[in-house]
Amino acid sequence: MQPRMWRGVVEEYREFLPFTDATPVITLREGGTPLLESRLGAPVGLRLLVKYEATNPTGSFKDRGMTVAVSKAAEARARGIICASTGNTAASAAAYAARAGLPCALIIPASGVALGKLVQGIACGATIIAVQAAFDRALDLVREAAPLLGLTLVNSVNPHRLAGQKTAAFEICDALGRAPQTLAIPVGNAGNITAYWAGFKEYRAAGRSKSLPRMVGVQAEGAAPLVQGHPVDEPRTVASAIRIGRPASWDGAMTAVRESGGTLLAATDEEILAAQDQLAREGIFVEPASAASVAGVLKMGRAHQLTGHGLKDPEVIQARANLPAPIPATLEAISERLSLG
Ligand code: F0G
Repeated sequence: MQPRMWRGVVEEYREFLPFTDATPVITLREGGTPLLESRLGAPVGLRLLVKYEATNPTGSFKDRGMTVAVSKAAEARARGIICASTGNTAASAAAYAARAGLPCALIIPASGVALGKLVQGIACGATIIAVQAAFDRALDLVREAAPLLGLTLVNSVNPHRLAGQKTAAFEICDALGRAPQTLAIPVGNAGNITAYWAGFKEYRAAGRSKSLPRMVGVQAEGAAPLVQGHPVDEPRTVASAIRIGRPASWDGAMTAVRESGGTLLAATDEEILAAQDQLAREGIFVEPASAASVAGVLKMGRAHQLTGHGLKDPEVIQARANLPAPIPATLEAISERLSLG
């Protein structure tokens, strides 16, 4: 048998990406994530598949875009990279910068970045700067700072990020042999929904899939500028990854929804946490922002996608967990606790 190892999204989908022989490939062999069948679809009469992006190297879909953005930065001989982030972009940027041997600066909101994400940046040696502002302001700052500091901006306003993130749509089509009927996706800064839609269209144009999905963007109710039709000054939600009031790819999201005949909807924090809980009870542990897409699907009664690992945001679960006091280390005590004896 021919040895076969997943090569990462650049080598698997090189013909769709802006790579030449002169572009170094900075990769952690991201992508190749599974589509998992969920039991939650049955009660609403759906076949519900979740694209489990948590199995990416840093635990979220951001790695798909980061491999392309950091490879291009290395090709351009960048001095370093910089981004603003609610956490996952930061964790991914730090890992790929380390892989490339480039300095990395992460500008994060002083409150609201989950610990599971922050530790990744620290471990990979990034410079972390917390600012007394929410994500939207942090993004404004890095957009200004990047050219002044001679650093490459690796937020999703960098088109290379979106190019890489398209590969998730390719993988779904390859796995199903066609595009799904509906794709539901959490929306924060709106880069991912924009990238997916571009991916589905590009794959169809290349003759690799025959149809297009309906795109459903799900926001958290307290941070739902696209649903409300205007920016939100003080976005609030338990789903810190999508606590964003002024999405940079606003137009991209609206185009995806309009062209695909899809919709935008908001899920409450209660609905998001309930969906996180239900998914975890079938072994699919995701962070709240990811669960927002499932909350939206359940609300709407339709297939879809999860974006970040549950381990990213342990506080959310911990806050709800009442761990009982330790027991003696004996079989009897364990049997008793489990009511088996
Ligand atoms: N899901 C997760 C787990 C995320 O981390 C994000 C965004 C989204 C969904 C929404 O994607 O912004 O492209 O609409 N996280 C960004 C960050 C903002 O800084 O990590 P989007």
